[in-house]
Amino acid sequence: MKGIILHGGHGTRLRPLTHTGPKQLLPIANKPMSEYCLESIIETGIKDIAIIIGGVGSDKVKEYYGNGGKFGVNITYVEQDEPKGIAHAIRLCKEFINNEKFLVFLGDNIIQKSIVEFTERFKNSNFDSTILLCEVSNPSRFGIAEVKNNKILKIIEKPKNPPSNLAVTGIYLLTPKIFNIIDDLKPSWRNELEITDALDNLLKQNDNISYEIITDYW
Ligand code: TTP
Repeated sequence: MKGIILHGGHGTRLRPLTHTGPKQLLPIANKPMSEYCLESIIETGIKDIAIIIGGVGSDKVKEYYGNGGKFGVNITYVEQDEPKGIAHAIRLCKEFINNEKFLVFLGDNIIQKSIVEFTERFKNSNFDSTILLCEVSNPSRFGIAEVKNNKILKIIEKPKNPPSNLAVTGIYLLTPKIFNIIDDLKPSWRNELEITDALDNLLKQNDNISYEIITDYW
């Protein structure tokens, strides 16, 4: 398997801190937040990781992570000219991923729980994707999964009337099937290619997405 960390975006909500550099390099307990993502990925045994960069201060990302050598992995950088959405960023990695299954981690998501077991289960499964869900108290602000009898029925971005309080976290286990789905996506009202739309379309195509629930800190 391969890994992708999303390190682009505008980071508008954390201005002015993000006027001079990417949000994901802001330290949490003396470590850039994206380093926690890298550590989570490394734990799974994945060695080939692409980091999507773009926007203000993306050179600082390259400076910090280098070729990955000091972390024992190989890092490739993929430039995103504009933050056109999470699905857009993932699509840029088609060549890098080639035919392998892969793990995507949004560089501003930190979870306490190890993802090793989730990743192993996905690796040995025939699922098109496994998503990690987490209960939230304000579901209208998230991408939400409607779940019934242990199956995902629908994935909806920021629903006005949320069908559940299970938010789709920023950790996605995927197969290359997602690339064709993204090619057919239309930009959303905020002019982004949304990962929630891509996942919902993938679900409609084969009804073959599983989920895991994170009960620890997200
Ligand atoms: P968002 O939280 O959607 O956006 P943002 O981080 O730019 O923040 P804000 O809304 O405050 O402007 O992004 C989620 C993660 O994905 C974050 O780590 C940035 C990354 N990202 C990209 O790398 N490329 C993109 O095109 C987008 C939209 C996000």
